[in-house]
Amino acid sequence: MDKVITEDIGAFSQHYPRVATIVTAQAGGRDNAMAVAWHTCISFKPPLYGISIAAKRFTYQLIADSKEFGVNFLPFAEAELVASVGGSGGYEVDKFHRFNIARDKPVKTAVPILKAAYAAYECKLVDDKLYGDHRWLVGEIVAVHLLREAFTPEETLDLEKVSPLLYLGHELYLTASKDTRYLDREVYGKQ
Ligand SMILES: Cc1cc2nc3c(=O)[nH]c(=O)nc-3n(C[C@H](O)[C@H](O)[C@H](O)COP(=O)(O)O)c2cc1C
Repeated sequence: MDKVITEDIGAFSQHYPRVATIVTAQAGGRDNAMAVAWHTCISFKPPLYGISIAAKRFTYQLIADSKEFGVNFLPFAEAELVASVGGSGGYEVDKFHRFNIARDKPVKTAVPILKAAYAAYECKLVDDKLYGDHRWLVGEIVAVHLLREAFTPEETLDLEKVSPLLYLGHELYLTASKDTRYLDREVYGKQ
């Protein structure tokens, strides 16, 4: 099959599946949750996590004020919650109340942690830069909330226990196939 080579960049962010998360924040007595699909690990030591958020989001205002945010990883069964917090604005509505979102207590920050999350990070903001139409926020992970039974002893996600929530773009959610292959890089790197 021929490939198209084009300078018409198009919807490049939809060219690969991403993990849909819910980012949480609080400040001045308000808390909020939004869907975020643009995010990644950045560093082991210190443990840094990056999220890309448009400045017009209410969540950004709360993070800029409090210098803290939470990243919550949810199972596929919670896709509707992601669509709900990604389709509503915290300037207009109290999402925790409207969507009846259950929470766990944070330990190192004041960010809301979602009870439904199989993993969640409490982050302290260490950097905030504008790139194009989004801000790149870097947080140091200061506490991790893990549903132990969802992970193998090596701390990889156990797909027999949890179906992760992925996002294709254009309001399409999916989960991962349970097919995995163990490919030892030490062995494969020497072939
Ligand atoms: C699946 C999904 C992923 C999203 N990913 C992002 C993202 O990475 N960055 C962003 O700024 N907005 C993203 N959004 C949009 C925000 O979640 C949405 O604008 C939300 O209403 C913002 O809420 P807030 O104004 O209460 O903060 C995403 C929406 C959905 C549905």
